[in-house]
Amino acid sequence: MTAPVRSGDPIIVNVPLGERGYDIAIGRGLIADLGKRIAALRPGAAAAIVSDEIVAARYLAQAESALNAAGVRASRVVVPAGEASKSWHVLESLCEQLLAARIERGDLVVALGGGVVGDLAGFAAAIVRRGLSVVQVPTTLLAQVDSSVGGKTGINSAHGKNQIGAFYQPMLVIADTALLDTLPAREFRAGYAEVVKYGLIGDAGFFAWLEANWRDVLSGGPAREHAIATSCRAKAITVANDERESGERALLNLGHTFGHALEAAAGFSHRLLHGEAVAIGMALAFAFSARRGLLAPAEAARVERHLAAVGLPTKPSDVAFAWPGADALMALMAQDKKARRGKLTLILARGIGASFVAPDADPAEVRVFLAEKLAER
Ligand SMILES: NC(=O)c1ccc[n+]([C@@H]2O[C@H](COP(=O)([O-])OP(=O)(O)OC[C@H]3O[C@@H](n4cnc5c(N)ncnc54)[C@H](O)[C@@H]3O)[C@@H](O)[C@H]2O)c1
Ligand SMILES: [Zn+2]
Repeated sequence: MTAPVRSGDPIIVNVPLGERGYDIAIGRGLIADLGKRIAALRPGAAAAIVSDEIVAARYLAQAESALNAAGVRASRVVVPAGEASKSWHVLESLCEQLLAARIERGDLVVALGGGVVGDLAGFAAAIVRRGLSVVQVPTTLLAQVDSSVGGKTGINSAHGKNQIGAFYQPMLVIADTALLDTLPAREFRAGYAEVVKYGLIGDAGFFAWLEANWRDVLSGGPAREHAIATSCRAKAITVANDERESGERALLNLGHTFGHALEAAAGFSHRLLHGEAVAIGMALAFAFSARRGLLAPAEAARVERHLAAVGLPTKPSDVAFAWPGADALMALMAQDKKARRGKLTLILARGIGASFVAPDADPAEVRVFLAEKLAER
């Protein structure tokens, strides 16, 4: 069962970054207000909607008519769907098309799509005419709870993911939770891993709420809005405290050091989605924390149980893939930007909702742990 398209007033979450602060509006049917909200913030500005082929086929017309209805001149740029669009080649073409559409300083870019479109269009907005305003309209759960908030933008390089980019905050984020009704279930679950992450980092009450309400989050009623708003609040506070990740923002990497190594091993492919890798990574981080005596094994088991209940993988063998050995994964982890001078920085936990940055993980101990986990069936 899914909820009706339109519900009551949106939830507003503010990202308190002073003069670069902005609101995140969360609610069903909000795309219809896109033009009104933009016209109120930027009277007279034109907008270029950037989207991917899949999202454009479903939602571009709605976004355009919302802009037209509010008198906002709208143009469009559609890029291919998928991670490969976070490339120099697509960035170049997008920037040239924005210029050709006569988008001036003071005009804006509307990023209508998942994290790929958000990262790419956000970066283009940062560099075209030395900075156009950007409105994020995230259409995946991952983008609504994570990538559209916080201002990290960029593309991939032959040297790694997200290696070219800029911190560039949006002017507004509009998370229309009804758009998620068409998201493939596997993509939804992958985004849900990042929702769980916020509970595990610092909000045990939220984790317990998710254990009780996850089915309603999936089916799309007010529980979905609550989960997204709670996630956005957690991210907003973290970003406001540490915009450029010199400290606390690193907590958002819970599950990501293990996860990135698995993603890299799987070739950043459809075999393992980012959120699936994060789910395994979080289960591993909690299991490793238990092994170090930081928390009771029952806590780690509880994390694994919830992720598995939702249908997420929690160990490498849950994914049908011939994983390389522990040494290869260690090498991939060492390439990660979180490795420094022979020690690994991991996000570990003293309990659910009590994660912390552990800058001194012993690689030998991690290696033994990984070898055991790879052998588990
Ligand atoms: N900037 C950040 O802080 C940050 C944080 C996390 C992830 N990311 C980046 O986000 C990207 C992943 O984002 P993603 O998971 O949203 O992937 P995505 O943008 O590739 O979207 C996943 C798929 O779903 C489709 N889709 C999107 N919305 C849909 C909808 N409403 N209905 C049906 N299909 C829809 C897309 O076309 C695509 O095929 C990665 O590149 C990652 O690096 C960035
Ligand atoms: Zn992530």
